[in-house]
Amino acid sequence: MARLHARVGTIRQLEILLAVYRNGSITKASKQLHLTQPTVSGQLKKLADDVGVPLYEQIGRRLMFTEAGLELIKGAREVMDSFDRLEMKLADLQGLKAGTLKMAVVTTSKYLIPHFLGEFVKAYPAIDIVLKVANRQQIIEQLETAEYDFYVFSHPPSNFELDVIPLAANPLVPIAAESHPLARQRKIPFEQFAREPFLIREMGSGTRHAIEQHLKNAGLDLNVRMTIESNEAIKHCVMSELGVSILSRHTLALGGSEGLKELDVEHLPIRSQWYLARLAGKEMSVIASTFLDYVQAQKDRLSTLLLP
Ligand code: PGA
Repeated sequence: MARLHARVGTIRQLEILLAVYRNGSITKASKQLHLTQPTVSGQLKKLADDVGVPLYEQIGRRLMFTEAGLELIKGAREVMDSFDRLEMKLADLQGLKAGTLKMAVVTTSKYLIPHFLGEFVKAYPAIDIVLKVANRQQIIEQLETAEYDFYVFSHPPSNFELDVIPLAANPLVPIAAESHPLARQRKIPFEQFAREPFLIREMGSGTRHAIEQHLKNAGLDLNVRMTIESNEAIKHCVMSELGVSILSRHTLALGGSEGLKELDVEHLPIRSQWYLARLAGKEMSVIASTFLDYVQAQKDRLSTLLLP
């Protein structure tokens, strides 16, 4: 037993390893941990010596973790998770819901999720929230490390075993500048809309993924003029008459729609749905299951409140 413990390092070394993995750099991890760079590299070297194989390679400025390194990171995450769960359980036994809820959500859901979190935090003020916001592909990558309690997607990936619950409708609607000629037209044929210069989200975006699928099903191609990494920037470019787009109605209803018009296009909006997902089999902390209960109880009220 003692031998096994020595081979996978001390808790502190595992914490250091996770910080380096999260930050992708020894310098950044050192800053975050308030340690010197040589201390962090020294601890990682000691850990690698104990394990008996290299944990990472430095390629240019990038750290590339080896298979052994990634396995150790997975195990370290489980160890830390179980400490966190224990702390939350002990707090719960003292009648206190305290601890951290970790969520990773796709960019577009940032209009919706804070409203769910706002009321939850008011009900449980001792809970801290970690909220990672990134595009769909980047959130899918986060599933690998199983670091988060919950994930929010409108198109959950099929290559992970997930438990999902539907949260709210997420219609993707066609938009143009108020001054655009299409803004006055009714029942615009889909083919006509598709010929307009189109502003599309970046590769890896869930919105883009849904639009591409919808167009493929209709046998049409888009006339893409610009690729833009942000819903807000797309709205401003549409307002400035650079083209038309398709965005989640939440970006307009909850993020402002001044100068924009939702168009009446045949075969649109694209009907999609927000899902709260968790990795099947990942043990739930007291805080995570409290949040899940809260979402189940409140989702109908909150979703209609947000998008009547
Ligand atoms: P996105 O994701 O913010 O990456 O476009 C939205 C979605 O999954 O619908």
